[in-house]
Amino acid sequence: MAEGNTARLHHAGKDYDLAVLSPTAGPDVVDIRKLYSEAGVFTYDPGFTSTASCDSTITYIDGDKGELWYRGYPIEQLAAQSHYLEVCYLLLYGELPTPDQLVDFETRITRHTMVHEQMHYFFRGFRRDSHPMATMVGVVGAMSAFYHDSIDINDPVQREIASIRLIAKVPTIAAMAYKYSLGQPFVYPRNELDYASNFLHMCFSVPAEPYNVDPALARAMDRIFTLHADHEQNASTSTVRLAGSSGANPFACIAAGIACLWGPAHGGANQACLEMLRQIGSVDRIPEFIARAKDKNDPFRLMGFGHRVYKNFDPRAKVMKESADEVLDLMGVHNNPTLQVAKELEKIAREDEYFVSKKLYPNVDFYSGIILEAMGFPTSMFTPIFALSRTVGWISQWKEMIADPQNKIGRPRQLYIGAPRRDYKPLDAR
Ligand code: ACO
Repeated sequence: MAEGNTARLHHAGKDYDLAVLSPTAGPDVVDIRKLYSEAGVFTYDPGFTSTASCDSTITYIDGDKGELWYRGYPIEQLAAQSHYLEVCYLLLYGELPTPDQLVDFETRITRHTMVHEQMHYFFRGFRRDSHPMATMVGVVGAMSAFYHDSIDINDPVQREIASIRLIAKVPTIAAMAYKYSLGQPFVYPRNELDYASNFLHMCFSVPAEPYNVDPALARAMDRIFTLHADHEQNASTSTVRLAGSSGANPFACIAAGIACLWGPAHGGANQACLEMLRQIGSVDRIPEFIARAKDKNDPFRLMGFGHRVYKNFDPRAKVMKESADEVLDLMGVHNNPTLQVAKELEKIAREDEYFVSKKLYPNVDFYSGIILEAMGFPTSMFTPIFALSRTVGWISQWKEMIADPQNKIGRPRQLYIGAPRRDYKPLDAR
């Protein structure tokens, strides 16, 4: 982070020189940390559209070029050549592992995949028709009650154990939430399976018959995990950082991230997108929905389109689109009407002046739902799968923040526009 330039602010007849910081990549950042103490003013930026909330070495997005890097490596290369646990190592520790480091890391993860047996009873307190995300928020939050030997955030060893536990156990919890919603018995993890195969096994096998994981499906699942592993300071990651800035334990922070991710403007969009594609139903109805998306008086938006940062094709959506064709082929799903609607909708929207001028391109959620549905997942499992993939990103960002000596409690200011000071009136005088 280079310093040198300054930006000058003129306010109330005085000039203030603000340092300008230069990142490795991306736009320069005006450092306003001392603005209030020196000039007595705040900045105003609802939704943080122009505010860098932290410095970070983990993930970089160039929204105009449509690029995404994890620790400097482009996502396309990682999706094609790496696999999820190697990517987890990279995100957590900053470098690709050596063969020995990878074996050691994989062993540590697979030794922590089971959850405390008492957690099974905890699940039973939820209504059986609960959404798996609702269950996950509760159960991941409850991990701090089950694993309180790893909640001292000031101890680096405990922070490391909590990270491994979260990456290892969240898939088990997501699969248990799914099984619970079906009324089927929980399926224990099998540690000889790779991470993605084990998740498919815990979701789709039943004790009554054998289940063999298709390696090609496991590979597609693994790629979905990789594509969702981190995405710099998005809403859920910022939630994790803000929760963690108070010193809250890692399980509570990740539960907060899961709660935030559930919203339809964020991780809930993959479910909303597939539901929208089904609602459109056939290619001839697309113009009607395009017209609604453009109508200012209609709250309808094209789900899976647009992104706060990408003003170009989301690079993850490109990989997803290729995967969608592969997985549907593999599952023998031909002429899938939802995929046909998706492809045609994408084509029309990419030529339409409204979408072109607003730089609204398909995002990662546009094709992920189609793949997950073809794999056999119900829509309610789409966001839990996103949550389990993103756990490593959340925990890497949380660890980075806790280890940063400059870390302070996150405490935004406000522009108060409420009533001026007034005196209380007793009830009988109102
Ligand atoms: N359909 C129609 N119009 C849209 C869409 C859309 N999907 N997205 C944005 N717009 C329009 C807005 O109406 C606005 O128009 P205006 O300037 O005339 O008022 C303009 O484009 C800018 O939109 P904002 O909402 O200001 O952009 P913002 O950066 O705040 O929102 C967001 C980004 C939330 C992702 C938005 O594009 C959206 O709601 N998309 C649909 C939901 C979705 O797919 N979310 C997944 C995001 S990716 C992820 O979380 C993994």
